[in-house]
Amino acid sequence: MGEKITVSLIKADVGSVPGHVVVPDEIKKVAEAFLEEKKQNGDIIDYRVLNVGDDLELIMTHREGVDSEKIHGIAWETFELATKRAKELKLYGAGQDLLKEAFSGNIRGLGPGVAEMEFTERGAEPLLAFMMDKTEPGAFNLPIFRIFADPFNTAGLVIDPSLHNGFVFEIWDIVEHKRVFMNSPEEMYDILALIGGKSRFVIKRIFPKEGSKLPADEPVATVSTEKLFQIAGEYVGKDDPVALVRAQSGLPAVGEVLEPFAFPHLVSGWMRGSHNGPIMPVPFHYAKCTRFDGPPRVIGAGFQICNGKLVGPVDLFDDPAFDYTRQKAAEIAEYMRRHGPFEPHRLPHEDMEYTTLPKVLDKLKDRFEDV
Ligand code: 13P
Ligand code: 13P
Ligand code: MG
Ligand code: MG
Repeated sequence: MGEKITVSLIKADVGSVPGHVVVPDEIKKVAEAFLEEKKQNGDIIDYRVLNVGDDLELIMTHREGVDSEKIHGIAWETFELATKRAKELKLYGAGQDLLKEAFSGNIRGLGPGVAEMEFTERGAEPLLAFMMDKTEPGAFNLPIFRIFADPFNTAGLVIDPSLHNGFVFEIWDIVEHKRVFMNSPEEMYDILALIGGKSRFVIKRIFPKEGSKLPADEPVATVSTEKLFQIAGEYVGKDDPVALVRAQSGLPAVGEVLEPFAFPHLVSGWMRGSHNGPIMPVPFHYAKCTRFDGPPRVIGAGFQICNGKLVGPVDLFDDPAFDYTRQKAAEIAEYMRRHGPFEPHRLPHEDMEYTTLPKVLDKLKDRFEDV
């Protein structure tokens, strides 16, 4: 076992072209130039800048641990520089996710989304980063559950003794701001009872169990759980989520981690953050949301970590094996679109309370009579 490494995947929507479609290369170059400086002066070990749709994604490796003021400050400064350029270019939604004026030591609660974990780097350390646009953190519940708990997805849970004990799920109630640790497979039905309600209960982290091949206090997967509407107090776009998942040697294999994405499950987000639609796994070059500002998309970037350096990314969904899923997602998108403004394509009423719908209802309030 090697030294401890921290991987921080921090994202923000700082502006896009046109509307909410895509981060232009010029903005990614601003981020790359700044992070290259930080790498040269030794603040971070390595970095990659990616985008999914209109979300700018910073992947950084370092030895500062999670919630580091220094690392979060670097991410914040990167987003500020990118926002400055986005404003000069009059990009759409320039600075959209930077909800607070100033950085105050930790980027959580300021608008950007964060998935980070510190762990002991193994002899070979495969790491997968997933980034979604036009949806919410609960969109990861189904795939993360299937990766770490569903024997019909992950063969290793059945045939690899090192996975047989299962995993610990850390689940957050993002409305009440509480969390619970639950054991799989023992409490599988209770876990599902919670995470099936994906707008409220989200999987935050996965841990190995005591006595497994990996340390029980080091996470093997983590998901961003920022809720933008709770930060801003009103709707400012969906909190498009990201996740990090480690693989192999006591963990699900890379292909087992990718397998649940072959099913384009329904997630909420899409147009104006107010519609249910299928999530489509796409290669980087299709990571732009067009039809009805979607459908929601996920990209996967695969790495090996070598003493903190990132070897990769491999564009994981750039594979004809996912063509069928994309075709299926396109069919489901068409089917859902035919519902127009009707539920369950449009989100249920409670979820619309965070949008501009209350303003429409307000206009009518004096015309309602008792019946
Ligand atoms: P290899 O034998 O190619 O290393 O694959 C092992 C494995 O776990 C594939 O899922
Ligand atoms: P983003 O959350 O990706 O900015 O999208 C907002 C939106 O309203 C899309 O229609
Ligand atoms: Mg946007
Ligand atoms: Mg977005």
